[in-house]
Amino acid sequence: MVARAPGRVNLIGEHTDYNDGFVLPTTIDRHIEVVARRRSDRRVRIVAADLGERKEIDLDSPIDYANSGWLPYVLGVVHELVQRGRIQTGVDLVFRGTVPRGAGLSSSAALEVATALALDAIFNLWLNPVDMARLCRDVEHRYAGVRCGIMDQFASRLGRSDHALLIDCCSLDARHVPMPLDGHRLVIVDSGIRRELADSDYNQRRTECEEAVAVLREADASITSLRDLTPEMLSTHEHRLPPDLFARCRHVVSENHRVLEACERLARGDLPGFGRLMNASHLSLRNDFEVSHPALDRLVEEAHQVDGVLGSRLTGAGFGGCTVNLVAESALSELEERLRPLVDDWSLQSIVVGTPERARVTEVIA
Ligand code: GLA
Repeated sequence: MVARAPGRVNLIGEHTDYNDGFVLPTTIDRHIEVVARRRSDRRVRIVAADLGERKEIDLDSPIDYANSGWLPYVLGVVHELVQRGRIQTGVDLVFRGTVPRGAGLSSSAALEVATALALDAIFNLWLNPVDMARLCRDVEHRYAGVRCGIMDQFASRLGRSDHALLIDCCSLDARHVPMPLDGHRLVIVDSGIRRELADSDYNQRRTECEEAVAVLREADASITSLRDLTPEMLSTHEHRLPPDLFARCRHVVSENHRVLEACERLARGDLPGFGRLMNASHLSLRNDFEVSHPALDRLVEEAHQVDGVLGSRLTGAGFGGCTVNLVAESALSELEERLRPLVDDWSLQSIVVGTPERARVTEVIA
């Protein structure tokens, strides 16, 4: 049994998912494949084919997941299904993939989703797609120590070729949004700066958002997450919040509005308007949420020098990783010329999405 799941790039809506807000990711033409076979004993053998690494464990022995690379994302899914009583026996798994690791393109979500999909198929679990995304998000919390939202796993599991996916991270309602790019491309540029979210300030940002909610809630019990906050409420309560928490809230409130407006702009075919929202998102992430990195700011600034670049922003958690750029096809070579000197390997690390045949969906392929 072979299952495949894609990475994702987030077009807009950053650090809003764990605040019950809105996000707009799309799947990319890089994926992870997992081959799986049932075993009759309680052993799990995992081979990381690209890395030439292998692990063998017994389901009944304790596992130390600390600093164990890809292990939590694969074995975590197995363990979670065992814990939930859905599987009782071991499995052989081999995986390989093309999503760059630590680049903010959700290689870990693709690995979790491909593993879950393969196990779902060989053990006949019939997990529904949203439950599978939730399970994979829980794996990230429990086994990898990253208190992420649900965007990456949801996008990898439910993304559709050549569409963006508007996700309401509170209700988990989602809508596939067509992307009429009309002579434009989405270009992902990898800064080459790598980060591990478990060690980054990612969890810290989530805690800050929770602290802000706790403060605001004392004044207004209707506020249960930053999603509930309107711009008016935020200015009414500004004096209650320390400046850094106020800035975090301002990012989340404004970013949620940007996501919804971005969908309207897409529907109207207003790509310049969409691009302006991407630019505003980057500034908000840099100044208010403070998750950018000098290398990302530089890539964004240089991109803006190119006529035909409608929008440019960091994508994913930040702290390193990639930018996503909305670029006229006629400006692609000029963009490449400007940015190539700033990245390690343009040809290997940069991915153009927006062509129907290249974006991939999650599927059992054999
Ligand atoms: C990471 C997390 C997501 C989301 C983004 C930031 O990719 O896994 O849940 O919070 O960062 O938008």
